[in-house]
Amino acid sequence: MQRSLIKHILAADAAPNENGGVVVKGWVRTRRDSKAFSFIEVNDGSCLANLQVIVDAGIPGYEQISLLTTGASVCAEGVLVESPGRQKWELRASRVQLIGGAPEDYPLQKKRHSPEFLRSIAHLRPRTNLYSAIFRTRSRLAAAVHQFFLERDFVWVHTPIITASDCEGAGEMFRVTTLDPLAENKSFERDFFGKPAGLTVSGQLEGETMACALSNIYTFGPTFRAENSNTTRHAAEFWMIEPEVAFCDLKGDMDIAEAFLKHIADSMLADVGGDFEFFCRFVDSSLRERLEAVSRTPFVRCSYTEAIEIMQNSGHSFEYPPHWGMDLQTEHERFLTEQHFKSPVIVYNYPASIKPFYMRLNDDGRTVTAMDVLVPGVGEIIGGSQREERLEVLQGNIERLGMNAEAYSWYSDLRRYGSVPHAGFGVGFERLIMFVTGVQNIRDVLPYPRTPGNCEF
Ligand code: 4AD
Ligand code: MG
Repeated sequence: MQRSLIKHILAADAAPNENGGVVVKGWVRTRRDSKAFSFIEVNDGSCLANLQVIVDAGIPGYEQISLLTTGASVCAEGVLVESPGRQKWELRASRVQLIGGAPEDYPLQKKRHSPEFLRSIAHLRPRTNLYSAIFRTRSRLAAAVHQFFLERDFVWVHTPIITASDCEGAGEMFRVTTLDPLAENKSFERDFFGKPAGLTVSGQLEGETMACALSNIYTFGPTFRAENSNTTRHAAEFWMIEPEVAFCDLKGDMDIAEAFLKHIADSMLADVGGDFEFFCRFVDSSLRERLEAVSRTPFVRCSYTEAIEIMQNSGHSFEYPPHWGMDLQTEHERFLTEQHFKSPVIVYNYPASIKPFYMRLNDDGRTVTAMDVLVPGVGEIIGGSQREERLEVLQGNIERLGMNAEAYSWYSDLRRYGSVPHAGFGVGFERLIMFVTGVQNIRDVLPYPRTPGNCEF
């Protein structure tokens, strides 16, 4: 008999007994005893549902039944028979075996636990319904991301995690060093790379070099930001997806971003009877409706200047009253997408003064071709732009911002040799997961969240 995953067993139309039976291995969620037999709910993490195992008193292994408590690991062999209950099949065991016991101090006894408590036992929380559903969805969505780009002939490129360039220019890089922080006479010449280095805040600049050779590329990898913002949407380590497209302008960039989010929404909606159902029932009752709207309805596109005017004329009271030139705060983003438009919104053409050096300057001389996609429940989920492809303008930016021109000479070379209009964007993978599951805190979609003051596990 071969081991079967519960997911495949429960999905089968005919009782999937191989060579007369199946072997199931998993963890006990609950056990109920009656005189002549016990019912064990076993979960192996392959799907949300448990398999019910019926253990007759007297079969081999029954003497250990009292040790098969919540959290214990178990192997059950037997035949699948039609179930009178909710599920199609249950296992009538011919043999059970305790693999590893779980004493009564097992923290996940059957009751509701708060997300805060579960974060403190992040090593065990994947054994709960919610977190197993989240982490399976994370994997599913990663596959959907690759599918979207590979179907469109984008090349997946791997940009460095250790880098010397601060793409966003926000000074939020974690330093990478082998120098003893307590030693005296530290100097970068004596450090591992012979100069300052850090963990990447974005693979974009290196991604641009690849796009200016391979035309359509994307990155998908870990990203680090030492920004000290303790919010429900910021992590110090998160994953980012960054497509970059040559011969593309801002409009083309927005089109790809919109098609991408629609594809992700569709792939969630296609998950019938599984984890998506669970999120709709237990996490966010408006989730299905929202994703259906994302899938069907064109996104609103609104310039930054229009967005400021809409907010100024709204009569809504903001903590930070909107004025032209300010960066949009979460309250502004959420007002636009949740209250005013009630739809995903792409805000574009932001003031040059609040955006990084690489964005293309518009003819008005004061805005750049930036675009942010804002979605209900999350706010900014995507940030992107058309890149400055004119050498003199780019060099002017580098000079004006006091950046080290020599350190970015390789980046300027793209404009020196065969420069092309190009554009791209970055999607926060965790924010994407929050958006399609309804989970409200970024700490709950990362297996081991890293936030200010928090690096457990
Ligand atoms: O808007 P950002 O900073 O844009 C860039 O990094 C560009 N280089 C992207 C590009 O054009 N290739 O970040 C992009 C996205 C944000 O919209 C957000 O979803 C996510 O990355 N993000 C974060 N997610 C979690 N925690 C943080 N601290 C994040 N900072 C940004
Ligand atoms: Mg941004």
